[in-house]
Amino acid sequence: MSGAPLFFVLMIKIGNINLTDNVLLAPMSGVTDLPFRRLVKKFGASLVISEMIASRAMILQTRESLLKGKKDKDHFPMSVQIAGCDPEVMAEAAKLNEDLGADIIDINFGCPVKKVVNGFAGSALMKDEDLATSIMEKVVKAVKIPVTMKMRLGWNYENLNAPSLAKKAEDAGVKMLTVHGRTRCQMYNGSANWQEIAKVKEVVKIPVIANGDIKNSDDAKKAMELSKADGVMVGRACYGKPWLINQISAEINKNEIIEAPNIFEQKEIVIDHLKQMIEHYGEKVAIPLARKHIGWYSSGLKDSAEYRAKINTTQGSKNVIAEVEAFYDKLSTFN
Ligand SMILES: Cc1cc2nc3c(=O)[nH]c(=O)nc-3n(C[C@H](O)[C@H](O)[C@H](O)COP(=O)(O)O)c2cc1C
Repeated sequence: MSGAPLFFVLMIKIGNINLTDNVLLAPMSGVTDLPFRRLVKKFGASLVISEMIASRAMILQTRESLLKGKKDKDHFPMSVQIAGCDPEVMAEAAKLNEDLGADIIDINFGCPVKKVVNGFAGSALMKDEDLATSIMEKVVKAVKIPVTMKMRLGWNYENLNAPSLAKKAEDAGVKMLTVHGRTRCQMYNGSANWQEIAKVKEVVKIPVIANGDIKNSDDAKKAMELSKADGVMVGRACYGKPWLINQISAEINKNEIIEAPNIFEQKEIVIDHLKQMIEHYGEKVAIPLARKHIGWYSSGLKDSAEYRAKINTTQGSKNVIAEVEAFYDKLSTFN
């Protein structure tokens, strides 16, 4: 026997689905659309989750909700996240997504945004455990695929009821939980409390994923250590870095450092991303949406402020692609 250390990824099972990895991409409205998820998958991520889809819009099959839930046939597993407050409508939206090819349904009990909370959806449901439970029971019953749930620690620090809701979720048949280590009232302020997530892990047997403020492998290790979670979920740190999930996973699971793509490779990634967005949304919608991704990709690179200003005023996909190419070509001459 060689003395080489053996590394293995703790297998996460979501019902009958085995994940090959324990670092997951967070659902982010306006960011984790099909083109971005495709890229993150290409770099090796196991589970990716759609942007939140309002269940009412879903059952009306609006163009926007259908686009949000779209998946590539060979992308397994892909989870579709739904939000809403009516158990029947949520159940119907879940079934529809199952019929459209989703492998997992994720229920959003974490969104803090006023528009969502005022409609008594997202994190507002943490204030009404009976209604939240009824939603979970109805959704689980409506589909054959596994159902997961994402929540915060509670509404505020006086009401940290994530463990109580977690137990109800498990009893309702939910197969995995993600906890963002903040309360709703914190919105995105302060920092995520990974230790508090351990109280959820203590009361359930289903996998628990820790989320919030994980930017690199050190954060991921610390979050897993403090929360005792089975895995981590990374959101904002992936802006402009579809390769980050893979880098974190390699380091925490195999002690392997994977370098970020070089400038030549980054240029190809940005252009590929842009072209996929144009195909997905059509040019008119894609270009304004793509500007923020192009900006994120360039963050920290030489002369990126001027480049972003230029991109923000450039019209037409051909011209935008030409600007991207010119920026990276100029950078590569310095390398
Ligand atoms: C722009 C943006 C959009 C988000 N949209 C969603 C969403 O649709 N569904 C959801 O459950 N969480 C959503 N979140 C929350 C993230 O999934 C995640 O819980 C949060 O950003 C904390 O993780 P992070 O610190 O790694 O970003 C969103 C966050 C951001 C910044």
